[in-house]
Amino acid sequence: MIYDFDQVIDRRGSGCFKYDALKLFYGRDDLLSLWVADMDFAVAPEITAALQERLANPVFGYNFRLPDFYQALIQWVAKRHNWQVHREWIDNTPGIVPALSLAVMSYTNPQDAVLIQTPVYRPFFDAVIDHGRKLLTNPLIYQNGQYRIDFDDFERQVSQARMFILCSPHNPVGRVWTEDELLHMGRICKKHNVIILSDEIHNDLLFTGSRHLPMAKLEDFNSITVTCLSPSKTFNIAGLCTSVIVTPNENLRKPLSELIFKMHLYLGNSFGIAAFIAAYTKGEAWLSALLKYLQDNRDFVLNFIQEHIPRINAVKPESTYLMWVDFRALGLSDSALQDLLFNHARIALDPGIKFGEDGSGFMRLNFGSPRSIIREALERIKHAIDSVT
Ligand SMILES: Cc1ncc(COP(=O)(O)O)c(C=O)c1O
Repeated sequence: MIYDFDQVIDRRGSGCFKYDALKLFYGRDDLLSLWVADMDFAVAPEITAALQERLANPVFGYNFRLPDFYQALIQWVAKRHNWQVHREWIDNTPGIVPALSLAVMSYTNPQDAVLIQTPVYRPFFDAVIDHGRKLLTNPLIYQNGQYRIDFDDFERQVSQARMFILCSPHNPVGRVWTEDELLHMGRICKKHNVIILSDEIHNDLLFTGSRHLPMAKLEDFNSITVTCLSPSKTFNIAGLCTSVIVTPNENLRKPLSELIFKMHLYLGNSFGIAAFIAAYTKGEAWLSALLKYLQDNRDFVLNFIQEHIPRINAVKPESTYLMWVDFRALGLSDSALQDLLFNHARIALDPGIKFGEDGSGFMRLNFGSPRSIIREALERIKHAIDSVT
């Protein structure tokens, strides 16, 4: 089957954040939109067919997830990540961001500290701060165009924390953590009795040479790890709000399950459930084609920047469709950089400072779009930068 990832789909007016909220966030809507982390590609035809099939039964009352929902996840994770998940470990949540808050609420008290590794996806900060918990940060080290973990600092911070929120693979720096790195982090958390909340939403978007390892699968870390999983990034169905939390340790699972139950978050969305099952049972061929297209897009961006915009640097992602771009050599303040890109280049990127102070001077570029859009965006960046003396 041929999938047309080159097709430009006009998403404006569909009520999507990426285009319809441009004016609200950027003050103008005449921008090429390379921010928010969803892709501009049509979903797998198998997902559309499953949604149509669900639509054919025109009653949309309360849902009850049948065993095929859980089986779809269990078989996918076993096949793709060689991890045996049990049905009773799984809780349902509308999304991973709500799951972060649910976990913070379940496992920490207001005086507790939670550790994150910056720069990182903004809601990691919010899930801690908005619930009045103390935020600890373990800044990643950026050296020779690559990010790595400062383990001495990690242990210092973990020793004061109740929980660590891991982003694996990491948004925005694109790292797929190695077994050694995961073991090192896991052992330190175990030693200090710290719960690991492992957000693995990007786990299936892997480029050649990268292998994702679920934290809960390593050593005996399943006793301290709560894993967030979803087909939403991989299959571009974030708007269908259907995700899961996997908690092997019953003592950890109980308070989280109870909170989800009390908040009635378990019923779910009729279409989300249908899409979830279709994605995990029938989406593999589409995903292979997508990964090839994304990898070519990634390489296209890296090559273009190297050849035509040598004044900036991009970090090569090992996973996902987000590129962390370093504009610091231009010597601009964050507001001047934003003005250059938003008002002169007329493209919407996510400002690096959204991801923490260490994101200053960076921007996150979403390359999950047809190549013609990506090319146009890069040309606009080039011209805008060429105009800066
Ligand atoms: C690391 C990470 N977690 C969670 C999310 C969003 O999760 P959800 O849409 O399920 O709330 C994103 C979206 O970009 C993400 O990058």
